[in-house]
Amino acid sequence: MIIVRLILLGPPGVGKGTQASAIVKEYNIPHISTGDIFRSNIKEGTELGKKAKEYMDKGLLVPDELVVSIVQDRLTKEDCVQGFLLDGFPRTINQAEALDKELTKMGIKLDKVVNIDADKEILIERAIGRRICKTCGSSYHIKFNPPKVENLCDIDNGELFQRDDDIEETVATRIEVYLNQTQPLIDYYKEKGIILNVDGTRPIDEVFETIVKALGDK
Ligand code: AP5
Ligand code: MG
Repeated sequence: MIIVRLILLGPPGVGKGTQASAIVKEYNIPHISTGDIFRSNIKEGTELGKKAKEYMDKGLLVPDELVVSIVQDRLTKEDCVQGFLLDGFPRTINQAEALDKELTKMGIKLDKVVNIDADKEILIERAIGRRICKTCGSSYHIKFNPPKVENLCDIDNGELFQRDDDIEETVATRIEVYLNQTQPLIDYYKEKGIILNVDGTRPIDEVFETIVKALGDK
């Protein structure tokens, strides 16, 4: 069994979630998406969900103190023993430092930070065209990855919906926030020698092949 501990880094809409679904299947590791954790809390109407929604709807980051403890807890669950993929965390230097501390405490190290990138126009088109299944959360794109039947999930026939933060204005804010607060993490992990830069403008399958090939000689 190979143990893979990964971070997926990249701007909104670049394809982190799409690649994450395929990578976790390939390596049989849990997919930890802070965005998904917040969205399920919003759906369940929890206090955390209510707080997070205020920031998410504006395209802003949820404050570090609400995010870090969730990830710390999640990493101590048994399924993370065989590795994990963090999607959308860390997103600030402060979060990255907190993660480093936690991993040191656990006596483990990250293997790679997969940094997927694409131009702003591509990001906006991808985010705006994204549709998600109400029941299973599978992600589609009206142009690049359409479902077989319009507006219905291929897997369970669930209705597809658009995320509240996938309107053009909010996507533009999310990209700005990424550039200011998250992009500095590329240098942070470059210095640690674990960054893997991937061209996110390629088709979904090609991006996946590139990642798996590069991780193969881990
Ligand atoms: P989060 O849910 O993580 O959103 P995000 O980072 O903005 O990224 P997205 O999920 O929008 O995009 P993605 O890269 O996953 O793209 P996808 O694969 O879906 O976070 C949401 C919010 O939660 C944040 O704004 C913040 O408020 C909060 N939050 C979360 N984590 C936080 C943290 N750590 N700290 C503070 N706040 C936090 O693909 C997009 C579309 O493109 C899909 O339709 C897909 O089918 C299509 N597509 C994908 N790849 C390709 C390709 N190669 N070619 C063509 N189409 C493609
Ligand atoms: Mg995502």
